[in-house]
Amino acid sequence: MDEALIWQEIGEKGFRELVAAFYRQILEDDLLGPMYPKHDMDGAEERLYLFLCFRFGGDLRYAEQRGHPRLRMRHMAFRIGEAERDRWVELMRAAMSECDISLKVRSELEAFFTQVADFMRNQGSS
Ligand code: HEM
Repeated sequence: MDEALIWQEIGEKGFRELVAAFYRQILEDDLLGPMYPKHDMDGAEERLYLFLCFRFGGDLRYAEQRGHPRLRMRHMAFRIGEAERDRWVELMRAAMSECDISLKVRSELEAFFTQVADFMRNQGSS
């Protein structure tokens, strides 16, 4: 995966838009919506946004605010099986197609999100 290329094309502004498009759908989603904190959706959006800036652009704000990502551990509080994993990736894929992202970067990001989403699974066989 070419992180530098992804960061160059999308950058802070693009990740901001992507995460906003993703969370607009989360709120209305029957399966995933109930897992997210209704009282702190701006905070949830900010955490995913800062994580992506950290992962692709080396922006340190996520680490300063949240420490080491430890994403698998942080997701243990939620029941994530194949259905939840697939829905998350499906919503992110729809968010990516709403945003102006080239096919090459979109397919690299999709592979990344699919892999991380599978790693978050804590129900069902591995
Ligand atoms: C597999 C399906 C997934 C489900 C059901 C899920 C669900 C959740 C929920 C309910 C939260 C809490 C929201 C908050 O208050 O921040 C959360 C946090 C988070 N998720 Fe996911 N997630 C999934 C996959 C992913 C993937 C693939 C990524 C990254 C590529 C990701 C990155 C994050 C991050 C960065 C946070 C905030 C962690 C923190 O600093 O506390 N999640 N997720």
